[in-house]
Amino acid sequence: MSSAKGRFIAFEGGEGAGKSTQARLLAEALRARGLTVVTTREPGGTPGAEAIRNLLLAPPGEAGWTPEAEALLFAAARADHVAHLIRPALDRGEWVICDRFVDSSRAYQGGAGGLGDEAILALHGLGSDGLRPDRVILLEGDEAALAGRLAARGAETDAIEGRPADYHRAVAAAFRAIAAADPSGFARIDGIGAPEEVHARIIAALADLLP
Ligand code: TYD
Repeated sequence: MSSAKGRFIAFEGGEGAGKSTQARLLAEALRARGLTVVTTREPGGTPGAEAIRNLLLAPPGEAGWTPEAEALLFAAARADHVAHLIRPALDRGEWVICDRFVDSSRAYQGGAGGLGDEAILALHGLGSDGLRPDRVILLEGDEAALAGRLAARGAETDAIEGRPADYHRAVAAAFRAIAAADPSGFARIDGIGAPEEVHARIIAALADLLP
């Protein structure tokens, strides 16, 4: 049982930014330093939140969710995830690495979706007591490079990923604005380059938090 403090790191960015790969490399690096690390993702991470994920990414019925219902579902999934997985792990002194967290809701639903930041933060206050990561790694890259990665990945698109380019441009702009407003909370990382190069940038950006 270690007495070290657990830290909460979230990865954010648009589609194709390399969040999952970098979350995995960071977890491996932290484990190699002897830390206990929980890796998780949103929407999802617990059975309840994974069930909500399915509703969000493949909406039942043709009408789809209204922007408000979508934001509430993301907040509900997050509330379950925080209560049943993230907070208990942090309380045990473990590190938590999460692929997307509330700043995705701020950028997608609040920014691109037009609901505004205040509404998203209010839902997060109610659902998750406003929990913030110790640091958010925002992976950035130019639109053409990210589109190329997605095409190469060739995976099926879900209901949100499949939205028009303008929507995704608005997401990227919202992420930039959110990060600019909280320079110590965010590390903006150039996500273009070999995975090991990007990983080294991330380790450097977390140096002050590492034991
Ligand atoms: P996922 O398959 O996890 O996408 P990615 O691999 O790009 O992270 O699907 C998550 C989708 O949900 C993605 O398009 C971003 C979107 N999303 C929101 O719109 N709001 C949120 O709060 C979260 C967590 C995700």
